[in-house]
Amino acid sequence: MALKFITAEEAASLIHHDNNVGFSGFTAAGCPKAVPVAIAKRAKEEHEKGNPFQIGMFTGASTGDKLDGELARAKAIKFRTPYQSNKDLRALLNARETNYYDMHLSELAQNLRYGFLGKVDIAIIEAADVTEDGEIVPTTAVGISPTICQLADRIIVELNKKHPKEIRGMHDIYELANPPHRREIPLYTPSDRIGKPFIKVDPSKIAGVVVTEEENEGGAFTPLDDATLAIGQNVATFLVGEMKAGRLPKEFVPLQSGVGNVANAVLGCMGENKNIPAFNVYTEVIQDSVISLMKTGRVKFASGCSLTVSNNVMDEIYANLDFFKDKILLRPQEISNNPELARRMGLVAINTALEADIFGNINSTHVSGTRMMNGIGGSGDFTRSAMCSIFTTPSTAKDGKISAFVPMVSHLDHSEHSVKVIISEYGVADLRGASPIQRARKIIDNCAHPDYRPLLNEYLEMGIKGHTPQNLKCCFAFHEELAKSGDMRNVDWSTYNK
Ligand code: COA
Repeated sequence: MALKFITAEEAASLIHHDNNVGFSGFTAAGCPKAVPVAIAKRAKEEHEKGNPFQIGMFTGASTGDKLDGELARAKAIKFRTPYQSNKDLRALLNARETNYYDMHLSELAQNLRYGFLGKVDIAIIEAADVTEDGEIVPTTAVGISPTICQLADRIIVELNKKHPKEIRGMHDIYELANPPHRREIPLYTPSDRIGKPFIKVDPSKIAGVVVTEEENEGGAFTPLDDATLAIGQNVATFLVGEMKAGRLPKEFVPLQSGVGNVANAVLGCMGENKNIPAFNVYTEVIQDSVISLMKTGRVKFASGCSLTVSNNVMDEIYANLDFFKDKILLRPQEISNNPELARRMGLVAINTALEADIFGNINSTHVSGTRMMNGIGGSGDFTRSAMCSIFTTPSTAKDGKISAFVPMVSHLDHSEHSVKVIISEYGVADLRGASPIQRARKIIDNCAHPDYRPLLNEYLEMGIKGHTPQNLKCCFAFHEELAKSGDMRNVDWSTYNK
């Protein structure tokens, strides 16, 4: 069946108010760009005419500014799931102008198939190649693309010529059956290939192909500061100790590492530590540091659901595809983030917290308990099921005015039952086998900033008796003080413990 080539504006005209639209992409990688910009323009025009125009949005995770940013600024998003990190969209969520459903990324595809989140009317997929018989080769992310292609009535392909067709072979597309027909996933090591190198769709569903040459929206990492570097080194030293103690096998286990600067630095430090053998990565987002370590042979293989690298690193990968092609595999997020696989492969999972409490509970999402930062992302998928779940965080934020370690988290994403180790620039709190009071001592003594240790120790002393020594009158004093004076260090317990 011949493909129909259309413009981005013609594609946008196929989308109507109240449609649920599934977009390819995971982080800025693999997102359509030309069609979303055209949809945003259309939304603004409709709004100017006094007509409503808002869509529901399903994506893999966060997206690029040409998707979340443009649509948010056009006030074109009625509903959004599962994760975002765009400042304009974040403002809308926190103003409750857009309904946001923050969920575990591994669960989105199945929740769509189960029908829990409504119908997918149309899927918009960035592709490196599309054939007349319905083979779509994604670009640098897989995300939820196979599922939205299967569920949507119509598909728009954004064929991006910046991505070579030769990327075919870097994807492993495998979809799960719904219960009660689901079987085990036949994947045992990160490099196992279990599916097809393309998404197969009914070609009659492809409503049009928009040809673009849009640049990747790959941002650069900020240079490492001392705290970030110290966190990375503490993680590497901890893992070497685990190997020496026989709690990690000498050939090591696959590693999952979260998003952002800290995660990138941690991987870099692990690569430099020669006591750690060359390792495999089984993660969600493959960042720059993985690619550098691949070149030096320190990372043997990386499985992920997106290749989220800076533009210069992307160019390097494409210029050396023969070297990288058999070392990288991109999978749907329900496979990359699958708890069954995290438990089977015994991952070491390293994610970043906004704040932790002294008993080991983690807040990854809500600033001061109310303002959404990004979302839980894949951190829960991995944390609950990994062999060793580590959370890292600098001990303070905003020039020391905010302590990352508080009496009680102001919002809970990962409970004390899932979190095994916490690491800051000061050191390591190994929480395995520790009672609440033992956990508190380790977190305060090893991880909290020295400015906050006396306050946290005093809190423990004020705790009422019981298994977990909480003081419910004072447990949010750090947050209240931040709201009042702008500095958690100003907490005076006598004003709270009345
Ligand atoms: N209270 C208020 N603000 C805080 C804070 C706290 N306890 N801790 C950090 N911040 C602020 C920082 O000051 C910084 O602000 P800025 O952007 O104005 O400079 C911002 O939050 C980000 O902090 P940073 O230290 O740069 O961390 P990061 O970029 O590594 O992001 C998370 C940290 C938690 C927001 C991020 O890792 C995330 O979204 N995690 C959830 C999803 C996840 O784990 N995904 C990976 C799974 S595979």
